[in-house]
Amino acid sequence: MPRIRPFQRGDEPALADICLRTADEGGDATGIFDDDEIWAQIFVLPYVARHPEFAFVVEADDGRVAGYIVCAPDTRAFEDWFAGEWWPRFAERWPRPDLERNRQDGTLRYAYARRAGAEPYGDDYPAHLHIDLLPELQGQGWGRRLVETLVSALREHGIHGLHLVASAGNTGAIAFYPRLGFVPLPSHEGVQAFGMTL
Ligand SMILES: CC(C)(COP(=O)(O)OP(=O)(O)OC[C@H]1O[C@@H](n2cnc3c(N)ncnc32)[C@H](O)[C@@H]1OP(=O)(O)O)[C@@H](O)C(=O)NCCC(=O)NCCS
Repeated sequence: MPRIRPFQRGDEPALADICLRTADEGGDATGIFDDDEIWAQIFVLPYVARHPEFAFVVEADDGRVAGYIVCAPDTRAFEDWFAGEWWPRFAERWPRPDLERNRQDGTLRYAYARRAGAEPYGDDYPAHLHIDLLPELQGQGWGRRLVETLVSALREHGIHGLHLVASAGNTGAIAFYPRLGFVPLPSHEGVQAFGMTL
């Protein structure tokens, strides 16, 4: 039986792999960008670097990490740290594109634009999450259990709201969050945000 456990140092390569294999609206994003590593350096690795205490993984029967949930408990503070400390190290490797010619340009421009208050959701729902499971673990209740595990940890720390932003085309995710009590929030074109008061 797989099990949920706290994130441990050393899990990072498995998390990066899961992120890549689920990043294309829930499906495998391998080869979409010139460098597959871009996804993880934006959507999962900064979270475990900054907040390992709010990261949990699902370990499969054979000990492999096959799913995760990561979280920034204070989105405003996290986005400032991302902009000031985390992302600048990639400036030479992945320079800011002047134009948005393709999806990679759009994702890199998003990373360069991240900063406190760039998105409004953190005002009412201070924490935000990312959750991804490899296909072998999907549809068996692990997503629900990971969210419940994170919500307990956030409540213990007195955090009163949680949000996330999904791609509008990720139909699985958009069906999943309302089943757990998240409510849809007004969102930009191409994405759907959800919030939950804790
Ligand atoms: C989206 C994801 C996290 C859901 O986790 P999961 O373990 O598959 O979902 P669960 O089995 O815990 O399902 C919980 C509830 O959501 C519903 N649900 C989950 N996936 C669904 C889907 N694809 N379509 C319809 N309903 C779905 C389940 O029916 C269940 O409802 P119920 O408990 O009321 O019966 C997981 O499938 C996943 O990682 N997908 C790929 C990556 C991804 O899209 N991540 C989210 C990016 S925003």
